[in-house]
Amino acid sequence: MPNAATARLAYGGDYNPEQWPEEVWHEDVALMREAGVTLVSLGIFSWARLEPREGEFDFAWLDRVIELLHAAGIGVDLATPTVVPPAWFYRAHPEALPVSREGVRWEFGSRGAICHSSPAYQRAAARITRALGERYGRHPAVEMWHVHNEYGVPVLECYCDTSAADFRRWLRDTYGTLDALNAAWGTAFWGQAYGEWSEIQPPRAAPTTTNPAQRLDFARFASDSALANFRRERDILHELSPGVPVTTNFMVSPTQCDTIDYWAWGREVDIVTNDHYLVAEDDRNHINLSMAADLTRSVGGGKPWLLLEHSTSAVNWQPRGIAKRPGEMARNSLAHVARGSEGAMFFQWRASRAGAEKFHSAMVPHAGTDSRIWREAVDLGAHLGALAGVRGTRTAADVAMVWDWQSWWAQKLEWRPSEDLDTRERAEAFYAALFDRHFTVDFAHPEADLTAHPLAVVPALYLTTARAGENLRRYVEAGGTLVVSYFSGIVDEHDAVHPGPHPGALRDVLGLTVEEFQPLRAGRTVTLDGAAGPLTGDVWAETLRPAGAETVWSYADGPAAGGPAITRHRLGDGTAWYVSCRLGADGLDAVLAAAGADAGLAPRDGLPRDLELVRRDGEGGRYLFAINHADADASFDLPAGTADGAAELLAGAPLTGGRLTVPAGAVRVVRLGG
Ligand code: GLA
Repeated sequence: MPNAATARLAYGGDYNPEQWPEEVWHEDVALMREAGVTLVSLGIFSWARLEPREGEFDFAWLDRVIELLHAAGIGVDLATPTVVPPAWFYRAHPEALPVSREGVRWEFGSRGAICHSSPAYQRAAARITRALGERYGRHPAVEMWHVHNEYGVPVLECYCDTSAADFRRWLRDTYGTLDALNAAWGTAFWGQAYGEWSEIQPPRAAPTTTNPAQRLDFARFASDSALANFRRERDILHELSPGVPVTTNFMVSPTQCDTIDYWAWGREVDIVTNDHYLVAEDDRNHINLSMAADLTRSVGGGKPWLLLEHSTSAVNWQPRGIAKRPGEMARNSLAHVARGSEGAMFFQWRASRAGAEKFHSAMVPHAGTDSRIWREAVDLGAHLGALAGVRGTRTAADVAMVWDWQSWWAQKLEWRPSEDLDTRERAEAFYAALFDRHFTVDFAHPEADLTAHPLAVVPALYLTTARAGENLRRYVEAGGTLVVSYFSGIVDEHDAVHPGPHPGALRDVLGLTVEEFQPLRAGRTVTLDGAAGPLTGDVWAETLRPAGAETVWSYADGPAAGGPAITRHRLGDGTAWYVSCRLGADGLDAVLAAAGADAGLAPRDGLPRDLELVRRDGEGGRYLFAINHADADASFDLPAGTADGAAELLAGAPLTGGRLTVPAGAVRVVRLGG
């Protein structure tokens, strides 16, 4: 954990001093102290500067930067710069540039152009990592290691011949025999049987759609091959820098990276760290932020994690660089902290003058320190200082949401029953519905134990292994309440349909079968009738056959008119709901209200819609974060029995009668008493 010695929340950002003359470094460090910066990520893009020619190192400048920071009491999250091999490397090893599916070899001149299977890249990355570890591994300023940068973006998959050979090795390790591979990939279809390993290629561009099991395995292979490179660097650093945590910055938000299986990666880092950028155009983009933060915490098993990058204001890579409103940066930072982050870090410390990201906001903007952004950065440093006590506490969640990157990859492949099926969209819609009910979400792998949560939702799980199906059935039998949305439980890990009627892996738990999918024409809707009132669906409908489940809403019109639309199945001590069409926010809210009642979750009615309330509890105390995203003040009662001795930590706000008012756009954090 960074800052272990000083018990501070981490505050700072990516620091790129090599872009500036040395006199600016002194100003930087003075300003960092003014803002309360505790940690900076250093050297992420410095390979060309650290190793200007192969095997020739220049550490003198980095020595000076680290000493300056150390003397000012600022910790270093030291990077291995292996996301940007220098120009000399690519001239010597052009084969290490990645090749696209269409056979285009990407050129040097941006960043992240890496074939993860390239032995030359692996050797060079290990050499610079070892050199850094030997020089700084025991330096007292180094509080954390930052391996690489955002594995998975901008490109992960490489289709070159070296990757092809590596893919074949991965397949041999996975399947053992060609017979097993042919069976798993269903190569009897379209005459694709392989008689020799050497005949297998990556799923390169082909005349029409490629074998989906082959594509799915290639996606798994790509995530694994980058992970092998992470592990190599991590192990070198563990050897040379004992006790210092090693991380790599994730981008868990499905809006931002879709190539990495973070369930697998979360087990490999010493502390999970994440980068998150707002979807600037979205008026309620704080919901996507909360979802990313909850997912980040979950891939780390619920332990505290660290937000390693977000922005003080605009980003430069979205269609419009929309500036954050006053107070928004603090709301964003503290929402991450509420959901388990041990601090708030930014890209980047000082806005660049040159290069691709010069229009990206920073803690020190082009406008300098006489600016709103700087003043808010200083205020945020003070706020984080006041919240040191939350370190080590854990976010308390109410509901589990099942999410699986591999299922998402499989569902996104071509030739599905409707191009309107969208795993990410459903996950975001369910998450927003839970957010609006003021429930905090833990994400879970489909095979993980869900029993800590009374309610579990499955927004879209096209690929459901038999084990996952059993896991969900056991969860319900043991008393859980499950809500499953359409096109889940359909295929196994090889994208083969489970035997028998759909949804093969979930028939038992849901108490029904799907006789026929009924995707809707573009723009069409269906009406659902039920005792709790009519609902509207779109995109999808199904002809359902109950086998134990009761009908709660039925189709009033559309292709499945007269049949069940939303069902409820009592099984063992629990209940499983099934939703067979795409519901909007109102429909999801109605189903979640009913399922929440089954689960015994007390509704949090009467709270303002955009008042985000999140708890962190632990030995350090019990903390309630109240973040008001609305333009009007919001008031609420503290939880029963917590008002005595409670204190508000950011503004010293009064807790009159156990009630707290959060001004429009503000954040309050209460250490609960009682
Ligand atoms: C990513 C990268 C940073 C920077 C930011 C800009 O998170 O890690 O180097 O490019 O995006 O938003």
